[in-house]
Amino acid sequence: MTDQSTFGVAGVMGWPVAHSRSPVIHNHWLAHYGIAGRYLLFAVPPEKLEAAVRGLAALGLRGCNVTTPHKQAIFPFLDRVDDLARRIGAVNTVVVEKDGTLSGFNNDGNGFIQSLRDADPNWRPDSGPIAVLGAGGASRALVASLAAQGATEIRLLNRTREKAEEIAAAVGSAVKVVPWEERSQALDGVALLANATSLGSAGKPPVDIALDRLPKGALVGDLIYVPPETPLLESARLRRNITVNGMGLLLNQARPAFNAWFGVMPEITPALRQAIAATFQS
Ligand code: ATR
Repeated sequence: MTDQSTFGVAGVMGWPVAHSRSPVIHNHWLAHYGIAGRYLLFAVPPEKLEAAVRGLAALGLRGCNVTTPHKQAIFPFLDRVDDLARRIGAVNTVVVEKDGTLSGFNNDGNGFIQSLRDADPNWRPDSGPIAVLGAGGASRALVASLAAQGATEIRLLNRTREKAEEIAAAVGSAVKVVPWEERSQALDGVALLANATSLGSAGKPPVDIALDRLPKGALVGDLIYVPPETPLLESARLRRNITVNGMGLLLNQARPAFNAWFGVMPEITPALRQAIAATFQS
């Protein structure tokens, strides 16, 4: 159990980091659960990452989140990294253990999967074939987490095929690389379509894909949350598919981190969603 009698500090290290919504989430929960503590932004340039990470235990921090560009670079400074984070090749959460050693985790993929399950309780990673568009860092976290949760067929499509091949090699035989040109056909019989490309985000063109073959019961997820409804999600919703944006990832990846640092598994409430939404209106 985490000692709640002392003021607990955690935060996020990134460069840049000012855009992070994590302080809104964690400080909301600290207030809600009456826990004395604070979640801060740490703007850490790459050349100071090692010193910053080595200082976590000395300063008495409970841990931290890690964002761009530190998610891979932090590996050598941690005492242990769990299997999933290793397979993803990136850490998003660090926990300072009681003995001062540092453990690394990656909750991003599992956070998104949780938000999919919340939107459609009938869907599970092993419900049927899955199509994932994109092969960047976000895709790798999602694909590795889907496979770890029992997905048996993940059709992975990326404009640059080699990057999809790399994910397939790291994750295993559940991942089948499919040519980007075949994305519309690859939707045949899927239980989930997930967009992990940047297409459809603010200022970018939409994903060019025909949804004719997408089964009516398929779930459609997009890791993007600005805008809240990408053209892909809008098209899917108009066909009456259940749709999920990337906000659920942001909220759900934070839950196990908060639990590890502060000893309470926090809930995602309408008030929290509202607090986050408010940060996009300014
Ligand atoms: P993240 O770390 O958030 O996943 P990323 O690594 O920049 O971001 O990945 C962006 C993804 O969007 C990649 O899969 C990229 O495809 P490539 O690997 O071929 O670059 C995809 N993407 C970006 N613009 C694209 C476009 N115009 N057409 C197709 N895919 C695109």
